[in-house]
Amino acid sequence: MIRPFTFSDMDRILQIEVQSFPKSPYDWATFVNLHHLYRETFLVYLAPAEDFQKDQILGYLVFSKDGHIISIAVDPSHRRRGVGKKLLERAMAEPAIKRLWAEVRRSNQVAQAFYFSMGFRIIGLVPNYYGNEDALIVQWTPSLRSP
Ligand SMILES: CC(C)(COP(=O)(O)OP(=O)(O)OC[C@H]1O[C@@H](n2cnc3c(N)ncnc32)[C@H](O)[C@@H]1OP(=O)(O)O)[C@@H](O)C(=O)NCCC(=O)NCCS
Repeated sequence: MIRPFTFSDMDRILQIEVQSFPKSPYDWATFVNLHHLYRETFLVYLAPAEDFQKDQILGYLVFSKDGHIISIAVDPSHRRRGVGKKLLERAMAEPAIKRLWAEVRRSNQVAQAFYFSMGFRIIGLVPNYYGNEDALIVQWTPSLRSP
């Protein structure tokens, strides 16, 4: 299930964040701001409860209504199971979305492979976007969507 972020998700989101971006994780205050700025498009992916356990958050996606992907991350122990794909597909399915784009570290081969598999293409590069590392700008538009 995919639903908007609520404050009760915060601890779990911070846990995924630190594991996913160990060098520069967003902190609590940043996620509070993201919640206020992108209330409807800060989404979490929940795995259904098994036995008597609670539903578990496995990943999150934040994007703006004009299509900028602010961040996406999936719990490392649940990657390559389609969680990121389902989150991104949710953004792609938004009728108002005319394009989606993201900055990706040049060294982040996994994220690039992920975006390419989803039909994104490189449209630009921002030198030293991350201080000492360039960002690739990747973009998807509905016309590029694979059949
Ligand atoms: C990028 C990320 C969100 C992908 O999430 P995920 O749930 O593992 O991705 P999915 O399982 O939906 O993968 C969809 C497709 O992307 C590609 N892909 C994903 N991970 C890959 C990897 N490690 N190597 C190669 N291709 C990969 C594959 O084509 C995959 O399809 P397949 O498994 O059927 O081959 C996840 O790796 C992550 O959280 N990374 C750390 C945070 C990060 O870098 N975020 C992006 C910042 S720009």
